[in-house]
Amino acid sequence: MSLSRPDAMNSVRLRPATPTDAALLHAWDREPHVIRAVTDDPTAEEAFIDADWEQEIRDQSAVSYFLIGEENGRPVGAMQVIDPHLEPTHYWGGIEPNLRALDIWLGPADALGRGIGAAMMTQAIDACFADAEVTAIVIDPLASNADAHRFYRRLGFRPLERRLFGPDECLVHRLERAEWEARS
Ligand SMILES: CC(C)(COP(=O)(O)OP(=O)(O)OC[C@H]1O[C@@H](n2cnc3c(N)ncnc32)[C@H](O)[C@@H]1OP(=O)(O)O)[C@@H](O)C(=O)NCCC(=O)NCCS
Repeated sequence: MSLSRPDAMNSVRLRPATPTDAALLHAWDREPHVIRAVTDDPTAEEAFIDADWEQEIRDQSAVSYFLIGEENGRPVGAMQVIDPHLEPTHYWGGIEPNLRALDIWLGPADALGRGIGAAMMTQAIDACFADAEVTAIVIDPLASNADAHRFYRRLGFRPLERRLFGPDECLVHRLERAEWEARS
């Protein structure tokens, strides 16, 4: 896969999140680039304001779980992987089975723009499609997050529709299995 820089591809690893990652996730919630990715409210001082990370991590299941990206052993980012058809909050509403939905955010500002996100996404997407039943992956960046749209398009995601998730206006993107396999 040539989408991410080879150095990041070699130095970045995903591992399951554990409750001891909660403090890190809380700290990253205060990073301006994370806040901007999560809300259009210019006065917000924290991202994922309602998240009790320790509880969220304890509540993980096969249909909703978190991954931590490490660069040379240093935690630098987080991902959530869900089965949007089966996960119990039904965040995605009525949606077809056999999809995965991903979310990604890098924590430390010095991790941005160095290929780490692409390396994390590549590994997560490969893992999702390793399940032969998974047909496509969906994501829901804020409609205002043009940087993220560019990042996702480079990975092969295509914009699908604008959609409100609660108060958030998002631009849903989708990556088809065939598109990913053609690029791999
Ligand atoms: C989106 C994100 C995961 C991309 O990871 P990354 O390691 O910075 O990205 P890469 O180095 O692999 O690729 C760089 C691209 O990421 C995009 N990007 C998105 N947010 C960025 C940021 N705050 N700083 C730098 N690049 C950013 C840019 O499009 C950039 O491409 P460009 O060179 O055309 O400007 C990461 O920037 C991030 O965590 N941003 C904040 C949270 C977020 O927006 N998450 C997605 C919301 S669903």
